[in-house]
Amino acid sequence: MPPNYPSILRQIAEAVRPEIGKGKVAGYIPALAKVPPDKFGIAIETVRGEQYYLGDADERFSIQSISKVFTLALAFRLEGENLWNRVGLEPSGNPFNSLVQLEYERGIPRNPFINAGALVIVDILLGHFSDPKAALLDLIHNLTGQDDIHFDEEVARSERETGYTNAALANFMKSHGNIHHPVAAVLDVYFHQCAIAMSCRELARAFLLFANHGSVPATGERMLTSSQSKRLNAIMLTCGFYDEAGEFAFAVGLPGKSGVGGGIVAIIPGELAIAVWSPGLNEHGNSAVGIKVLEMFTTLTGMSIF
Ligand code: DON
Repeated sequence: MPPNYPSILRQIAEAVRPEIGKGKVAGYIPALAKVPPDKFGIAIETVRGEQYYLGDADERFSIQSISKVFTLALAFRLEGENLWNRVGLEPSGNPFNSLVQLEYERGIPRNPFINAGALVIVDILLGHFSDPKAALLDLIHNLTGQDDIHFDEEVARSERETGYTNAALANFMKSHGNIHHPVAAVLDVYFHQCAIAMSCRELARAFLLFANHGSVPATGERMLTSSQSKRLNAIMLTCGFYDEAGEFAFAVGLPGKSGVGGGIVAIIPGELAIAVWSPGLNEHGNSAVGIKVLEMFTTLTGMSIF
């Protein structure tokens, strides 16, 4: 018998209600600081196409670092294993925008989900596409069936105006020869990918690719080999939550990815994708309520990858 998802979602929403609106909305990107902290949505989509959702699940928000999974999927599909010559595969144990580790490790980022790693992935995409921003939107349109998903230009501008740390990371890697294109071009794509606006329902639908071993359930289109999909999930599990990846694996037990817009998406291979949005962040820059929701979800359903 499959779990009673509607009843489980209601139970979770009831339990986390007192926490909603707490935590700190990302303040270092001014356009994100304006988002009401009490927004809350959850969406589930199964590989069979069943959908369950509640709250603000249809409202689009800034996906931020969740976008790094999409750019990694594009780059992995094109570069295969060569990718790992320029970016590592180990959890960083450091904040997502840390400069320190990069200096020790001579401009090779620990993994593709910290900001430095995502910047290298953009640089790789610039070698394959004349317009990587369009290629990224194309992928997302294909995965969701929604072709009006776009960049929030106000967020992208806000990131550019305040993105000194990202500029420092890109310049530092350029000095080590690990960025091949102009820094300004890399940053432009990066700030735009983070500024993509999607809803929980759209994110859950898009992440079914990773729950469904690399093919899109709605169309049957294969986008990654099942081995690539497995590897992407492994990177989400070990690196998706930065210096909270261990705690997330311990508490939730699913591969997933967070963003400072307050979104988290996680998948159960062969079964479903679940997206949560609650903008209040904890000290690691991950949605505080989002983690709680997912912890309750795997506890109440008894489903996890372990
Ligand atoms: O580059 C940044 O700092 C943001 N655009 C993205 C960071 C992020 O989402 C980290 N995730 N929790």
